[in-house]
Amino acid sequence: MQVIILPSAHEVALYAADRVVDVINTKPDPVLGLATGSTPIALYKELVARYQAKNVSFRRVTSFNLDEYIGITDAHQQSYRAFMEHYLFEQIDIFDENTHVPIADSQDVDVLKRSAQDYEQCIQLAGGIDLQILGIGLNGHIGFNEPTSSFASRTRIKTLSESTVVANKRFFEEGEYQPHLALTMGIGTILESKSVLLMATGKTKAEAVKAMIEGPLSAMCPASALQLHEAATIVLDEEAAGLLELKEYYQWCEQKRQQLHEGSLA
Ligand code: F6R
Repeated sequence: MQVIILPSAHEVALYAADRVVDVINTKPDPVLGLATGSTPIALYKELVARYQAKNVSFRRVTSFNLDEYIGITDAHQQSYRAFMEHYLFEQIDIFDENTHVPIADSQDVDVLKRSAQDYEQCIQLAGGIDLQILGIGLNGHIGFNEPTSSFASRTRIKTLSESTVVANKRFFEEGEYQPHLALTMGIGTILESKSVLLMATGKTKAEAVKAMIEGPLSAMCPASALQLHEAATIVLDEEAAGLLELKEYYQWCEQKRQQLHEGSLA
């Protein structure tokens, strides 16, 4: 795991934007895995700004989002499709047909199960995900893979944990129906991405971040599965890194990495 600690959430977003742009500029048919939630909003704002400044084009990009709620339609303001349209897709030159968010607006279980299988196939057909962007839940979830999710899990219907329902309540109106099921990429699906970049900011994430990086490999902290990925970067602000025991070591590793990049073994 590469652990990068930056002074602020703004710098976390700039770092993530650099990584996304790098994938777009170095791959002929770049495939991005995208996340929703409050953490990546700053990243999407930065990508929109770079697009407007003509520093990047998304014409060749295909995207796959991690998850979508079951029980609300795409048109609902809180659907993840609506989130992505609002914060990113409508503001850049990506082709609509190349943007994928799990299709979860059916009430028929068999249709949803087929939709999950189709999503897996669609990722394969696109050649796999080059860079998967992730956030982390307070309970250590990635996508909607809640604690005790199998590390081998694939895209499927998942029941949200109470902690996730409570954390996401802030996005729904008082008394409004709030989904408790989602269609989510599995941990196995996420681990097949060629590289992953998990962003975490703010002190509320510090415990989950510590469990992910320094805790045991455990289904109780789904994000700890990233310890098994050979190209996982965790980018944190100071607050999210606040409980890490080996914080100074990670910072030293980054200095060394830079020196090695410049060809120095000093
Ligand atoms: C969203 C997702 C979730 C979020 C996580 C953190 O697509 O898959 O795992 O990344 O719940 O959400 P925020 O960033 O709102 O704290």
